[in-house]
Amino acid sequence: MAFNRREFVKFMGGATSALATLNLVSCQEEVLNESAKFSFSSKDDFLLAPGFEYDLILSFKDKISDKDRFGANNDYTCPIKISDDELILWVNHEYPDLLVGSRWVKGMKRTKEMIESERYSVGGSLVHLKKRDQRWELVYNSKYNRRLNADTMIPLVSDRPIRGKKVAQGTFANCAGGITPWNTILTCEENYDLFYGERIRQTDERIPSRLGWEKTHDNPPEHYGWVVEVNPKTGEAKKLTGIGRFAHECATCVLTKDNRVAVYSGDDRNNQFLYKFLSEKSDSLEKGELFVADVVKGKWISLDINKQPLLKKTFKDQTEVLINCREAGKLLGATPLDRPEDIEIHPESGDVYVALTNNKERGNYHGSILRLKETNGDHSSMSFKASDFLVGGEEFSCPDNLAFDRFGNLWFATDMSGGSMHKEPYKKFKNNGLFYVPMAGPNAGKIMQVASAPTDAELTGISFSPDGKTLFLSVQHPGEKSKSLEREKMTSHWPKGGSEEPLSSIIQIRGKLLES
Ligand code: FEO
Ligand code: CA
Ligand code: CA
Ligand code: CA
Repeated sequence: MAFNRREFVKFMGGATSALATLNLVSCQEEVLNESAKFSFSSKDDFLLAPGFEYDLILSFKDKISDKDRFGANNDYTCPIKISDDELILWVNHEYPDLLVGSRWVKGMKRTKEMIESERYSVGGSLVHLKKRDQRWELVYNSKYNRRLNADTMIPLVSDRPIRGKKVAQGTFANCAGGITPWNTILTCEENYDLFYGERIRQTDERIPSRLGWEKTHDNPPEHYGWVVEVNPKTGEAKKLTGIGRFAHECATCVLTKDNRVAVYSGDDRNNQFLYKFLSEKSDSLEKGELFVADVVKGKWISLDINKQPLLKKTFKDQTEVLINCREAGKLLGATPLDRPEDIEIHPESGDVYVALTNNKERGNYHGSILRLKETNGDHSSMSFKASDFLVGGEEFSCPDNLAFDRFGNLWFATDMSGGSMHKEPYKKFKNNGLFYVPMAGPNAGKIMQVASAPTDAELTGISFSPDGKTLFLSVQHPGEKSKSLEREKMTSHWPKGGSEEPLSSIIQIRGKLLES
């Protein structure tokens, strides 16, 4: 069922929360009043509602050490605390920047040099940040600063070799991610087919990729589409094949009542599924059982070949099931969803929130945020109840990245695609935005816009500093619709302005709603 705002407030009114302080409530009122005037801009700038300020931390191509540069199209951010004023920030680099990285536009030939520079620019960055006067700054040349990219050799944690190998070359398509209870990072390989294409299991036929990397590096598509665990202090990484292979948006970890780890992950493609992995042990994700959601019946379906005769009949072993999760999920009656993107667990209630961004094929243009309540509030439950939490179309469109702050309130960012923005039915929403929703108290369920993105950009990678007072945010792909390599003709000039080239960047936001 879908709540309209009034029903939602009534519903939330019953919930009490020690987290909703008076001060915070009055901040919310102010932002709400200002948000009404501020919402929906088409300016080529990063705009913030009054009472907030921001600074740049890093942009594409910035040097992080004498050896390495910050990568392209930054997405997920994950801060790991070192001390009160020091942290290591993991940042995903989802895909190459063909415009200001490779300097390629449609119609040009793709060269080997372009592919080499693209391979360096994807994967992830680890950067050491230090707080000075409330601002987080890069510690240049820190021993923690390093890059993982398309050439980093990464072991496949798997029952058997995959396409003859136990080690994969590189990680890319790193979209969102997660953090484990033991403070390692999970980075998720989403649209891997862009880089190396895909293989049709039944015929073994190879579908070529759009970037054509297979022409210079002949790696099998089966080495990608996994969740990768990274040690933030050493950069050591491994691909956790037990969590399955699909267009992984995120991998959100939470402890079960018996202290195992549940990892929720969505497959961001039209009519694909929601998954849950339950680890065998409390300190490792290397072994466990993968489930896929029947959202209609509220059931988790096991993808264990030894429990499912239909899988046994179709696939030769569990590794083959894991490589082909989409086919396995479909066989077992998983529920097709409207592109599951980011997932977050409410810190107080334990409810699971899943952004369903849209499904234009099914006529769902604006998406929604789905809420799952696991039976008995236990993340190891085999059943749950699902309902719509927020539905897009009026206040926002295409929710994607989610985060709960230390007060338990929801922040989310929207991702209307570059090709859709400023056209019907998206016209009125103008540029993408960052939104805030109180989860308790008198403003519960009210949706406030806090920031507006530069032209063509998406806001993503929402995370908070260890004290909760800084919000880290990725401004991804400003100017991506540019058709010319002449700077003046590019559609965005953010962050430098003038006629400068657009650069994806990490920023830090401080202000109201984070302080109280
Ligand atoms: Fe990379 Fe589904 O967003
Ligand atoms: Ca996303
Ligand atoms: Ca998130
Ligand atoms: Ca998206």
